Amino acid sequence: MSRVNSSQVVSIPDLRPIAKRRLPRVVFDYLDGGAEGEFTLRENCRAFEDITFRPRHAVSMPACSLSVRVLDFDLSLPFILAPVGYSRLMHPEGEIGAARCAGAAGTAYILSTISGHRLEDVKAASKGPVWYQLYLMGGRAAAEGSIARARAAGFSALVVTIDTAVSGMRERDLRNGMKELMSGSVFSKIPFLPQIVTRPGWLVRFLLDGGVPDLPNVVIPGQGPMPMIDVAAALASSTVTWQDMRWIRQAWSGPLIIKGVLTGEDARRALDEGASAIVVSNHGGRQLDCVPASLEVLPEIVAAVNGRIEVLVDGGVRRGTDVVKAICLGARAVLIGRAYAYGLAAGGPEGVARAIAILRGEVERTLKLLGCPSIRALDRSYVNLPAGRREPVNEELRV
Ligand SMILES: Cc1cc2nc3c(=O)[nH]c(=O)nc-3n(C[C@H](O)[C@H](O)[C@H](O)COP(=O)(O)O)c2cc1C
Repeated sequence: MSRVNSSQVVSIPDLRPIAKRRLPRVVFDYLDGGAEGEFTLRENCRAFEDITFRPRHAVSMPACSLSVRVLDFDLSLPFILAPVGYSRLMHPEGEIGAARCAGAAGTAYILSTISGHRLEDVKAASKGPVWYQLYLMGGRAAAEGSIARARAAGFSALVVTIDTAVSGMRERDLRNGMKELMSGSVFSKIPFLPQIVTRPGWLVRFLLDGGVPDLPNVVIPGQGPMPMIDVAAALASSTVTWQDMRWIRQAWSGPLIIKGVLTGEDARRALDEGASAIVVSNHGGRQLDCVPASLEVLPEIVAAVNGRIEVLVDGGVRRGTDVVKAICLGARAVLIGRAYAYGLAAGGPEGVARAIAILRGEVERTLKLLGCPSIRALDRSYVNLPAGRREPVNEELRV
């Protein structure tokens, strides 16, 4: 039996130490870490502990429905796999393996711009919906090129991430030499090599996979695929603005999802710009530190959009109870990032499948113990907010 399917792996937190043992420190910390003091990273998980359940006992619950409808897609699960850049560093199958597992489980996969696999191959691997997450790195022409390719390949939604004006300061990456290892000279890599040679299994797989890949989905006209050199600098020189949504809407006629909304104001702006859905997200605590947990601002945003667009949320989801709590507070579905990426790092696609199966089992059991027949029937009446937490008010409904 493989490590990820052993009897010792019963929850997502059990996958994390396996990932840590298999990856070099630089790659594990890239996956695990957050920005600066990692306050928001911790808060994302802690905020779920503030919410408690109000179960309805002594009701018969022979079967529970976990299905949700997001942007006219019927998904079998209330969670979607979030875009995770550099997934191919965690395992050679990376984005392809994760997309295949999502599709097999009946849910959607969101492919990051920072992917080591071609978007066409990722789409072909999944029998479920695959959405493309857009950064403008490489410039507008490169972005228009990837949007056109995504449309032709059959991607069914475009996710524009708006919280990455510059890359967050991930101190662990700096200390571990992430930049030197990804793009530096041989000489600059030397101080950081010990962490790599102590993970020979990972190193062999990485070298057989061809080492650091280019970015095959960011093709700069006249130059070709963007090399994986200083992605941080590329992001800083290509900040997306609300004005960009105009040409993006022209280039992409399908559903548009804006990811990285943390205030009611930005949520209404996304609505005005023609978004079909938003993702309440602080990028898993990896961008601006000291913003609140996504779960904490979710009620404000749900009130602000007042049912006019769908609201998704991510950040800190590690358990089925977390998924259920977020939906009780008004999310249509949640995105999971590290929860499946730990699985990918721990055991490749098998690890992703295990992570999905664990969460599915937990969500189902939570529904049954709550006395709720389906995800769609969840609402505020199933949870207690912490004492003193104000119910958000939709300002537009105030007279
Ligand atoms: C290693 C890693 C890489 C990520 N790369 C991207 C990315 O390329 N684009 C993006 O929009 N979000 C990216 N995110 C953020 C996730 O999409 C998601 O918002 C976040 O992981 C949710 O928090 P969680 O990991 O606690 O579930 C990344 C997250 C992680 C952990």
